[in-house]
Amino acid sequence: MQLAIENLDHHYGSAQSLRSISFEIGDGQCLTLLGRNGAGKTTMLRCLTGLLKPSGGRITLDGTDITAWPSFRRCRGGIGYVPQGREIFSDLSVGENLLISYKAHGGKDSAVLDEVCEMFPVLRQMWRRRGGDLSGGQQQQLAIGRALMGRPRLLVLDEPTEGIQPNIVKAIEAVIASLKGRISILLVEQYFDFAQTLADRYVVLNRGSVVAAGAGKDMDKNELSRFLSI
Ligand SMILES: Nc1ncnc2c1ncn2[C@@H]1O[C@H](COP(=O)(O)OP(=O)(O)O)[C@@H](O)[C@H]1O
Ligand SMILES: [Mg+2]
Repeated sequence: MQLAIENLDHHYGSAQSLRSISFEIGDGQCLTLLGRNGAGKTTMLRCLTGLLKPSGGRITLDGTDITAWPSFRRCRGGIGYVPQGREIFSDLSVGENLLISYKAHGGKDSAVLDEVCEMFPVLRQMWRRRGGDLSGGQQQQLAIGRALMGRPRLLVLDEPTEGIQPNIVKAIEAVIASLKGRISILLVEQYFDFAQTLADRYVVLNRGSVVAAGAGKDMDKNELSRFLSI
C-alpha cells in the first residue's frame, strides 16, 4: 500500500507540533521515522491513524485522500497501529486481546490467528495469561500480533523496542523483516541499529520538521546523531 503525507501541520492549541511534514512510503517498503523525544514522531503517527486532527496538509493511501476519515475507517482500510507503550488490555487475557481485534475485523479469517501465533509462539503459550502479567517484550509482541489480526497493508509501529530485552528485540526484528516486501511499514524508532537494519528509507524529525531523509543504506550514525538522543 502506498502512503503519501503531504505538507502535514499539527498544533496542540497554539503550539505547532508538526511543520509541513512530507514523505512517501512505496508498496512493501519500510520507512523509519527517527528523532529524539518530543520531535513529533508520535503526533505524526496519531495524525496518520486518525487519533489527532492535522491543522493542514493531506494524507493519501493508494491515491485516496483519507485526511477526513475517522480512525475506524482507516483501520478497516488497511492501517494497523502498534502504539507507543503498547496499550494492551492488561485485565484481559492474551487470547482475548487478540480476539477483540480479530472480531473487530470480521472474525472470518481464522488462518490469521495461526499465522500470528507462528510468528510469536509466546502468544500461544501464554494464551490464558493476563496481558498485564506479561513482560514488556511479550506485551510488545502481543500488541504487534493484535495489529496484524486485520491483515494490515500498512503497519505503523511506535518505538517497538523501547525498554525491551535484546532477545525479544531480535524476535521482533525478524518478524518485521519477514513482513517487509509484503506490506508497507512505518517504523518509529530511536534505536539506530534496529532502524538501519530494517529501513528502505528514513526520515528524521526535529522540533516538528523533517531535517534529514534518504535511503536506508545511506543512514549515517555520526551524521544523524545530533538529531537522536542515543
Ligand atoms: N497532548 C499533548 N498536548 C500538548 N502538547 C503535546 C501533547 N502531546 C505531545 N505534545 C508535545 O508535542 C511535541 C511532540 O510530542 P510527541 O509527538 O509525543 O514526540 P515524540 O513521539 O517524537 O517523542 C512535544 O513537544 C510534546 O511535548
Ligand atoms: Mg513518541
